[in-house]
Amino acid sequence: MLNLQITQLCHHFINEYVAEGSVCIDATAGNGYDTAFLCSLVGDSGHVLAFDIQQKALDNTAARLLKLGLSDRAEIIRDSHCNMHKYTPEASVDCIVFNFGYLPDGDHSVCTHADTSVAAINTALSLLKKGGLLSLCVYSGGDTGFEEKTAILNFVKGLSQKQYTVLRIDYYNKSNNPPMPVMIIKL
Ligand SMILES: C[S@@+](CC[C@H](N)C(=O)[O-])C[C@H]1O[C@@H](n2cnc3c(N)ncnc32)[C@H](O)[C@@H]1O
Repeated sequence: MLNLQITQLCHHFINEYVAEGSVCIDATAGNGYDTAFLCSLVGDSGHVLAFDIQQKALDNTAARLLKLGLSDRAEIIRDSHCNMHKYTPEASVDCIVFNFGYLPDGDHSVCTHADTSVAAINTALSLLKKGGLLSLCVYSGGDTGFEEKTAILNFVKGLSQKQYTVLRIDYYNKSNNPPMPVMIIKL
């Protein structure tokens, strides 16, 4: 059943933009769910780069891919997503996925931050091919606060409508600062 909770909703979009042979980036590998999903879509001829700054996340991602027989399709990289451009040329990527915040069941103090997240989104846009998708899962409230969400929304609102379509999706009837999917298509 499609419940369209944030991850499933983002995967619904990603599924439309990623095909056999695609090149993708998971900018926040975490427990590897998004990396595994991208690997399942790109097939044997595609490739996924998965970034995270903490070893536990990289280990969890590697273990998930191994279990699913998808290890050959991904390169798992311990580096900040701010450095994505060091690993792939401009305009070479079909889909880039960010799921901000902290590792579930991990150290909440190791998390994404407003300034680096905005810088990494800007870098990601330069790496996307025309027609490519940038998928963002944005959180607020609780440990996360509101600074990152506000900074991301301000940044994406300023993107040229000639160059990008920016969709912001509201869980309109949900209380307690629901997560916000943001989809950006490079025109
Ligand atoms: C919500 S989790 C990601 C969930 C993941 N996509 C999944 O499918 O399980 C957020 C992750 O972002 C990572 N992170 C925080 N700052 C980062 C940075 N500057 N570069 C790359 N990863 C970062 C954290 O270590 C954490 O594992």
